[in-house]
Amino acid sequence: MLDKRIKPSLIVKYLDQYVIGQDEAKRIMAVAVYSHYRKIESAQRDALEMTKSNVLLIGPSGTGKSLVCETLSKILGVPFVTADATSLAQTRYVGDEIEAILQRLVDKANGDVVRSQHGIVFIDEIDKLKAPRGERGGCGESVQHALLKIMEGSQVKLANARYIDTTGVLFICGGAFVGLDDIMASSHTYGFISTSGADDRNILERLNRRVKPTDLFQFGLIPEFTGRLPLVARFQELTRDMLARILVEPRNCLYNQFREIFRNEGVELVVEQPVFGQIADVAFEYRTGARSLRGIFEELMTPILFKVPDDPALRKVEVFSLYAEPRYIRETS
Ligand SMILES: Nc1ncnc2c1ncn2[C@@H]1O[C@H](COP(=O)(O)OP(=O)(O)O)[C@@H](O)[C@H]1O
Ligand SMILES: [Mg+2]
Repeated sequence: MLDKRIKPSLIVKYLDQYVIGQDEAKRIMAVAVYSHYRKIESAQRDALEMTKSNVLLIGPSGTGKSLVCETLSKILGVPFVTADATSLAQTRYVGDEIEAILQRLVDKANGDVVRSQHGIVFIDEIDKLKAPRGERGGCGESVQHALLKIMEGSQVKLANARYIDTTGVLFICGGAFVGLDDIMASSHTYGFISTSGADDRNILERLNRRVKPTDLFQFGLIPEFTGRLPLVARFQELTRDMLARILVEPRNCLYNQFREIFRNEGVELVVEQPVFGQIADVAFEYRTGARSLRGIFEELMTPILFKVPDDPALRKVEVFSLYAEPRYIRETS
């Protein structure tokens, strides 16, 4: 089912073309999806029961969690849907809502239920399902129970009396988990082991960075649920440098998108390197990860794009500062 040539290293290489940074998370996810599809194969071959390892992505908003999942589904060629845990918690009909998510997965597979059974479901904002301090039995908790069932693998009835078996569906949960670091800082006790060598330090740091199920439990998720998410990948806050790279490096980056728009008008767009740094500085202040980049870039481009169609002699536009008029270069006749 999974092309034999698709190895974790290749998956990471592919991700690198679209996602800047997040190297550790990329590696964890590449191995996770690789093992997942290998497990399905051997379960089918030997008619074994399959123990799934669903994945939890932890990291601030706008750092690439959704992007990684979407890109993964593309390289694997499997159907992919995103759902939002907050809306699950707000509905009284969790079962219906979950059914609708799986129905969307089938739709993504063009109605092919068998294909949809190897798809990926990304459930975002999973941290919003936490129980309020000390409280148990809230609506977030019942959503966790409902999700648990499909994550473990179950037959879910769809609207048209068909069934989807979720055993082979890979569930990836995501969330910002604000406050988790404080919990980890107080619960991880490896700090007092005396360390001399740099290697010991590294091992210690790795252990301390690891998110334990007990940390997630303290955060407010139910133990059964945390137990279903044995793999945790952490996404780092994007630095200014990474934000600037996101504008120019990914295959479908904003700069390339706009260069294409200008090219269609017969105009070459050149944005000088320092401008990307300026945009990154502004985006960094907004604290929404890479999410604000598009808005800032569009704001820079809009007045230029307004003029271009009225100026048939225009051949080139050079932007050298976010705060200065660009240079318009026309054909001299
Ligand atoms: N590490 C990254 N590399 C490249 N682009 C990114 C990265 N992180 C975020 N982006 C951009 O920001 C947008 C929002 O990111 P998203 O993956 O939805 O963030 P999250 O799911 O972590 O909140 C993406 O569509 C993408 O264009
Ligand atoms: Mg997202």
